Amino acid sequence: MKNSSESQANKKHFNSSDHPSGDERFKVIDRTMKRFDFEKDALLEVLHATQESFGFLSNDLLIYISSQLRVPLSQVYGVATFYHSFTFEPLGKHNCIICTGTACHVKGSATITQALSEQFEVPIGKTTEDGLFSLTTARCLGSCGLAPVAVLDGEVHGRQSPQSTISLVKDILARETEVLEQGEPG
Ligand code: FES
Repeated sequence: MKNSSESQANKKHFNSSDHPSGDERFKVIDRTMKRFDFEKDALLEVLHATQESFGFLSNDLLIYISSQLRVPLSQVYGVATFYHSFTFEPLGKHNCIICTGTACHVKGSATITQALSEQFEVPIGKTTEDGLFSLTTARCLGSCGLAPVAVLDGEVHGRQSPQSTISLVKDILARETEVLEQGEPG
């Protein structure tokens, strides 16, 4: 028979706010669901919070959201795949989002996306083989006055052209190469 101090020691202490997996990132999802009182209507908001926290939507995450909000998994998949801003694979170290909203589209955002895809040999929505660069798109990034807009590593760049966005990405990737070279033994 266990004495009381043993059983105390064996007890796992979870705060009610802790996720059983121990992964802190779940807190962001849980908080968002709580904020909306676990209403099914919160689905889109919860998906955004999940993507922000984890960087992408894995199957396990979608199943978790489905069970917590009591929304059929097919509906969760339906919403997640409808919006281009969601990704289902981990993003690369650097991420460039090109806006495909109306204002940006009219001002040629599709040619920017295409040019980046060709220049860095990465399909839209994917990551380069070295894991350094992802090219994604989103519908309206909320800066329509600056169209066409690119967001590179979270920084908004307005009035872009294929050349200007390519050189922004090149600069970032060149810095990566410098860091790698400095790390190599001389
Ligand atoms: S349409 Fe591109 S920022 Fe709104």
